[in-house]
Amino acid sequence: MLRSSYCGELSEKDIGKRVKLAGWVNSHRDHGGVIFIDLRDRSGIVQVVADPADSVEAHKIAEEVKDEYVILVEGVVRPRGEGLENPKLKTGKIEVVADKIKIENRSRVLPFQIGDKSVNEELRLKYRYLDLRDSKMLETFLLRSRVSKAIRDYLEKEGFIDVETPVLTKSTPEGARDYLVPSRIYPGEFYALPQSPQLFKQILMVAGFDKYFQIAKCFRDEDLRADRQPEFTQVDLEMSFVTEDDVMKVVEGMVKAGFEAGGVEVKTPFPRLTYREAMEKYGTDKPDLRFGLEMVEVGECFRDSTNEIFHSIANDPEKNRFKALKVPGGDKAFSRKKLKELENFVRKFGAGGLAYIQVREEGLKGPILKFMSQESIDRLLELTKPEVGDIIFFGAGEKRKVWDYMGRLRNKIARDLNLINPKEYKFVWVIDFPMFEADENGNPTPLHHPFTMPKMEEWEPENFENIGSRAYDLVLNGYEIGGGSIRIHQEEIQKEVFKLLGINEMEAREKFGFLLDALKFGAPPHGGFALGLDRVIMLLRGTDNIRDVIAFPKTQKAQCLLTEAPAPVEPTQLKELHLRIRKAKKEG
Ligand code: AMO
Repeated sequence: MLRSSYCGELSEKDIGKRVKLAGWVNSHRDHGGVIFIDLRDRSGIVQVVADPADSVEAHKIAEEVKDEYVILVEGVVRPRGEGLENPKLKTGKIEVVADKIKIENRSRVLPFQIGDKSVNEELRLKYRYLDLRDSKMLETFLLRSRVSKAIRDYLEKEGFIDVETPVLTKSTPEGARDYLVPSRIYPGEFYALPQSPQLFKQILMVAGFDKYFQIAKCFRDEDLRADRQPEFTQVDLEMSFVTEDDVMKVVEGMVKAGFEAGGVEVKTPFPRLTYREAMEKYGTDKPDLRFGLEMVEVGECFRDSTNEIFHSIANDPEKNRFKALKVPGGDKAFSRKKLKELENFVRKFGAGGLAYIQVREEGLKGPILKFMSQESIDRLLELTKPEVGDIIFFGAGEKRKVWDYMGRLRNKIARDLNLINPKEYKFVWVIDFPMFEADENGNPTPLHHPFTMPKMEEWEPENFENIGSRAYDLVLNGYEIGGGSIRIHQEEIQKEVFKLLGINEMEAREKFGFLLDALKFGAPPHGGFALGLDRVIMLLRGTDNIRDVIAFPKTQKAQCLLTEAPAPVEPTQLKELHLRIRKAKKEG
């Protein structure tokens, strides 16, 4: 071994001991002939002293040393002199007097200082190995490793079997575009990288494996956001002969084990919210429950409005919503300028404007009051119960749009007014999702995936938006950290769902024939779940950037700046794959 001890683990207990250390020069100083080196390895830093009085040879080499050189050191641990202790360093009471130093490798001047997060992220990603030398980054991956292990241990204890499923496979629709891999052997044919192991885990249930799990890589070619990567990791699981409650209980135990390994206490069971409640109160199916600011439906107060637009919106409650968002103390907190900013914010998400009523000592104030009868104003006050100093915002129009911009406004206001305790973790199950929603052309698309079991007692293809599903999502602090469902295990139902989705029989056979076949051979009732591991670690680390918790992430533009992937390939490779590249059209 090149070393006997880790730098950060040395302590007063080791005084007098001879040690061999190996690591990087974190910093070095020459104090009138004596050279001090802060030597760093994974465990931390220790001070190494090269004094010509102890070893001329070691001192000579120490003179050559620069930051980030890799060196090997041999010497003896001794206490630091009086008044020379460094309380900021775990090893601050001791130092190692070197009698041998070897430079194992040199380093160029770094493009940025280790740990400097103010440099642009692209540079950090290009030199990711330097970025990862930062102890804060290392902590993330130690945490990630601990959490994965706790989850794995928990699931194994619960009787789950870890099974790997293919990466070169056929498309599994999870709502994103596929990454495709051309086949050399079959010209013009492609594998798809899995968007999730969904169909394989269902087939493992048909195989009788009963409880499956896998920490699996998933691939989705979709628009990237701060919490989305093109390849990401799921803790994927599936169980046979279960109901929603059985799956949710196992997931709660797993999440508790994982979070507790990450130092966060978790109380189970988690509260549940129906999809409808979530949308109506918070405007989103992933509500942040660390703060209140619940919205109230006030359409009834505008049905008699003398404003024609309000009147017509309020009188079509099937299609529209009229939402009030009361912000306690908001009238005092928001200046005119701030109100303008909030209006501009909701406009970006399709609002025509942002109406409000200010609640003042002298009475209510706001331009929409003049369109309201006294009776309606009274009812509004009854519904929203404001106090002096509050402000009530209104969003009115097509329901999806209103939910969306009012939900975003709710989050923004909570952030702006510092209503969020960043140390708090508020889990909530969102249940009773609709099975389908209408796309922009009014056609049904699945809200989860098409293998989710619909609530068959509500099956009514003409009114597909009213059919519920047996799906559930797990939400934490405004992020969807996981989702799952009870699945369809009967071929006829699966065919019905495909039919409703406009997937004809031939297409269904072509794409999912293997699943439909499997359902013919005694498929048990089953259900499962997938936890987004990257998002969990992101939340445990208190960052809102998923790239911070992935060792080698892609940029928002889906590039790996370290390897420079994606990259062109050799013409011979293309030829082998029977591919020809058309010149890309210039954008615009
Ligand atoms: P779903 O598509 O909801 O379900 O994915 C499960 C969880 O994976 C995480 N996730 C992502 N994380 C980072 N980047 C992405 N691009 C990304 N996409 C999803 C989320 C999400 O909640 N097969 C089903 C699960 C099931 O039904 O069992 C599925 O994949 O945290």
